[in-house]
Parts: sequence; structure tokens; C-alpha cells
Amino acid sequence: MTAARLSVSALCAAGLLAALAVPALADEKPTKAQWTIKYRQATFTLLAWNIGPISSMVKGEIPVDQARLALHAKRLAELSPMILEGFPADAKTGAPNKAKPEIWDNFADFRAKATALDEATAKLAKVAPGGDMKAIAAGLGEVGNACKSCHQKYRAD
Ligand code: HEC
Repeated sequence: MTAARLSVSALCAAGLLAALAVPALADEKPTKAQWTIKYRQATFTLLAWNIGPISSMVKGEIPVDQARLALHAKRLAELSPMILEGFPADAKTGAPNKAKPEIWDNFADFRAKATALDEATAKLAKVAPGGDMKAIAAGLGEVGNACKSCHQKYRAD
């Protein structure tokens, strides 16, 4: 009986703590800039996640899985056009990030670099299902160059 009463009060205490935690979480609602910066970093994380297995297959580090390769390539082509949405002028600062302020001084050039990745990923997605590893390697090279060309100019080290 005592044990039961104890566990009930333990449950109540846990419930009380949970209730107290709710307003604390609500206070942590991100600002618009924090949310946008998180969005763009997540987009890049997803790009890197999906490029990984394609690169490993091209290098022969893992066996070629045609369906998986085509899926990751298709995702890259879908993710690339999501990049620019993460760079409105009101999200230059507001959370730790590596976007250089030059982006917003040269936005037409930044947009061109994002478009170059759109085109390279679309090309890779087109050749990926065919299984021609030479064409896939060339397509992957173009994608990698498009990532690099933007990072060199617009991402802080
Ligand atoms: C148009 C420019 C541009 C292109 C193209 C681009 N990046 Fe980036 N990337 C950036 C910028 C700017 C940042 C820094 C963003 C920040 O910290 O808010 C970044 C950050 C990243 C990050 C770190 C994300 C994080 O969590 O902080 C990764 C990983 C990344 N990019 C991978 C890639 C890959 C892979 C590609 C190509 C498939 C690519 N990027 C193409 C501009 C670009």
C-alpha cells in the first residue's frame, strides 16, 4: 500500500515536472532568423548525406546499388532548388553560421552558383538510373565542383 502510494506520488511529481517543462520549451521557440539558418544548414546536411553513398559507389568503396544510387541522385536534384530559400536578407545573422556577408552583396552571383548546382544535380539524376558508371562519375564531378565553387567564395572556413 505504501509502495503504491509512493509510486503514485512519484508519477505526480514526474507529471508536474513535465508540466513545468512545457513553458520552458515554449520560451525556446526560435526566432525567424534562427529557424531560417537551421533550415538552410539542414538542407546542406541532406545534400551531403545523399551525395555520400553516390561518391562511395563511384570510388568502389561500397558495391554499386543501382536503385539506391538513382534515389540519392533524384534527392540531390530535389534538394538543390531548396537552397536559395534559406538565404533571405533577414537571416544573415541571428544564429551561429558560416554564410559570408558577401552573399547578400553579390546575390545574383550567389544565385547563379545555386542554379549551377540545380543543373548539375538534374544532369546526374538523369544519368543515374542508366547505370553508366563513367557518366555517373562525370556527373558527380560536376556536382562536387558546383558545391566547391560556392563554398570557396561564400562559406567561411
Ligand atoms: C550557392 C552556394 C552553395 C552551394 C551550391 C552549396 N553550398 Fe554548402 N554551404 C553554403 C553556405 C553559404 C554554407 C554555410 C551556411 C550556414 O552556415 O548557414 C554551406 C554549408 C554547408 C554545409 C554545413 C552545414 C551545417 O550544418 O552547418 C555542408 C555539409 C554543405 N554546405 C554541403 C554542401 C554540398 C554537399 C553541396 C553540393 C551538393 C553544397 N554544400 C553546395 C553554400 C553553398
